[in-house]
Amino acid sequence: MWITVVPRQYVPIAAKAYASSVLRVSCFFYSYVKKLTQNRHQTVASSVYALTKHGGDMLKIDKLTKRFGDKTAVDAANILVEKPSMIGIIGRSGAGKSTLLRMVNCLSDASEGTITFEGEEITGLRGAARRNWQSRCAMIFQQFNLVPRLDVVSNVLHGTLNKRSTFATMFNLYPQSDIHRAIEILDRLGIAEQAPKRAEALSGGQQQRVAIARALMQDPKIILADEPIASLDPMNAQVVMQALRRIHEEDGRMVIANLHTLDTARRYCDRVIGMRDGRIVFDGTPEQLTTGVARDIYGAGTDFSEAATSTEIETLDRSEVREAKAYA
Ligand SMILES: Nc1ncnc2c1ncn2[C@@H]1O[C@H](COP(=O)(O)OP(=O)(O)O)[C@@H](O)[C@H]1O
Ligand SMILES: [Mg+2]
Repeated sequence: MWITVVPRQYVPIAAKAYASSVLRVSCFFYSYVKKLTQNRHQTVASSVYALTKHGGDMLKIDKLTKRFGDKTAVDAANILVEKPSMIGIIGRSGAGKSTLLRMVNCLSDASEGTITFEGEEITGLRGAARRNWQSRCAMIFQQFNLVPRLDVVSNVLHGTLNKRSTFATMFNLYPQSDIHRAIEILDRLGIAEQAPKRAEALSGGQQQRVAIARALMQDPKIILADEPIASLDPMNAQVVMQALRRIHEEDGRMVIANLHTLDTARRYCDRVIGMRDGRIVFDGTPEQLTTGVARDIYGAGTDFSEAATSTEIETLDRSEVREAKAYA
């Protein structure tokens, strides 16, 4: 006990000091706990506010417009997504599909209109807020955008870049837990054994699955895929689309994919959006996407052939796709 080591004449002073320090520590804890509860209340309040403000819609795109000089690439697009869905965007080349996805990912700024995700306005985000959104909204590209000479697992770990320091990134330093998670994701996509290989040594279909694994590493709420199967042969295209479908169904993530083929959009998506000259000219279910509607979206005449937009993945129908568990 401190009393035994403090000389008798100093006991009152020591007791006073002790009492004052106890008081100070208590005050500190009180203000700390108060701040924590206050923060919690603020978070809950802002979530409730956001929920009531956006009426429960997950993604709201409102009169979104993008101009490049005289050219209007996206013209007053309106899209409302209430729950995580798998959405395909179709339309001929130059219709504005990529520009639309790039604005959702904040890779490109809108000229007019707004994008709101779970009540938070995305349009106009800058700096750390923009990076934070980009880590919740992963993007996959036609050309995979991997680092070809880097091994597969390091490419997947790049999915954590938005949350990491420049120093850690420069020296390729990752926590063991991230490496384990990267391997688990690769395993889920059926390519764990490729982890030590250079990305460039993999087939196109495998590389796109690495890109999907990198996206999943971000644990995103929404995955945007810009023509994810345009460079793949039909078999690999099927494997990649199955992977995206499975991620949507099992993880409850929203997937929006620009697709250049009608049959893929019909087969894998719950909802199809058709764009023509920057405008949304169709928004409905695959069943509503008749040949007549498709002809209108593609701006084609009576000689329009669906086969011309087809990757000829003819082996599976939608129910079989849903049941598919195995990856090539
Ligand atoms: N950076 C840019 N500068 C100028 N025009 C662009 C740019 N990006 C796209 N565009 C134009 O916007 C239109 C839509 O392009 P894009 O979104 O790439 O269409 P899609 O993906 O449907 O093929 C096209 O006419 C294209 O030329
Ligand atoms: Mg495009």
